[in-house]
Amino acid sequence: MTTPTTNSGLEDVVVSTSEICFIDGDRGRLLYRGYDIHDLVAHSSFEETAALLWNGALPKRAELESLRKALATQRRLPPKVLTLLRGLPRKSDSMDVLRTAVSALGIYDPDAGNDSREANLRKAVRIQAQVPTLVAAWSRIRKGKAPIPPNPRLSLAGNLLYMLFGRKPSRLAEKAMDTALILHADHELNASTFSARVTVATLSDMYSGVVSGIGTLKGPLHGGANVGVMRMLLEIGDVDRAETWIKNALAQKKRIMGFGHRVYHTEDPRATHLRRLSEQLGREAGELKWFEMSRIVERVVNAEKGLHANVDFYSASTYYSMGIDPDLYTPIFVVSRVSGWTAHILEQQAHNRLIRPRAEYQGSREATYVPLDQR
Ligand code: CMC
Repeated sequence: MTTPTTNSGLEDVVVSTSEICFIDGDRGRLLYRGYDIHDLVAHSSFEETAALLWNGALPKRAELESLRKALATQRRLPPKVLTLLRGLPRKSDSMDVLRTAVSALGIYDPDAGNDSREANLRKAVRIQAQVPTLVAAWSRIRKGKAPIPPNPRLSLAGNLLYMLFGRKPSRLAEKAMDTALILHADHELNASTFSARVTVATLSDMYSGVVSGIGTLKGPLHGGANVGVMRMLLEIGDVDRAETWIKNALAQKKRIMGFGHRVYHTEDPRATHLRRLSEQLGREAGELKWFEMSRIVERVVNAEKGLHANVDFYSASTYYSMGIDPDLYTPIFVVSRVSGWTAHILEQQAHNRLIRPRAEYQGSREATYVPLDQR
């Protein structure tokens, strides 16, 4: 029998090989399928990035057009899923709603029960097409408004904003959302991707894997941090209060959302772009205070704790300047990360082995059973 060794939080434990995503935490590098995230932000689109993650290579023009069409024409939700959304309590947590609704989508998927690679690729495209519609439909249903039908002529990013607000987004807002979606698309074996892989490694289905991913992303130590960042900025309220507020929070040993990372020991390369977008969107909205406050918080947290902003920090003020409700920030993270989760699920299925670690047992080994009436 081998003696198990423990590793709290599986830090630096390598549990599988992968060809999808590379992170160099010391140099702040992030690659999807070998392509630097900075190049993808400069030259790619979210649709092309999703194709890259799923297929392992940049698509040719015809392949990209065919994927764009598939994503654009499958955006509508099954009517029964819309009925489900309308029946949920309006105060429900948006991530709980998304988790429930994606689970329901699985029931209505025409490929349900077919676990071939071709069927799973079709499911990945369908989930990717429908999750933005779910997020936008819920954002309106809970306010008593009718969902806006998707517009197949718009990009995935542009259509998401269109369905949220009922008008075509500005060029800058569409570009910013597209960039944010590229930046959030994958991140190696983060907690939610790991749970998605664990789920399908039992030979469970793709929807179960994605639902596991959503449940895992929800927590404030993971994707839920972006909501926490906006709550903090709203609580600070004013640029003049930012420095004192954050120093007090650090003195009270509070965990500051949007800072720190298990893998990066330097600037998160995604934060570099989101910082720029936060400033640009703030300017377009005519309100720079959220960006300015964020800069102060970043300077103090970096000086006092040596911690860097992660992807969740500047995405908060970026989305806020677009007019998006804060509790939708983690669901928007899901819109993007669905591409990474499903790419990892496909990879796991192609080289599957059950993922089953051990625990170091520290409980009693000598307990003697006491009958119920004698306890
Ligand atoms: N604010 C204050 N202190 C922090 C923070 C923070 N954001 N992050 C780490 N620390 C401190 C922590 O208190 C601990 O100090 P000490 O050793 O004195 O107890 C030390 O740094 C190590 O922290 P840890 O929790 O053991 O580190 P970890 O690698 O387990 O955690 C993390 C990584 C991301 C969970 C953590 O940095 C954190 O809680 N950050 C805030 C939440 C957040 O922004 N999450 C998003 C992560 S990135 C994108 C994503 O996944 O969505």
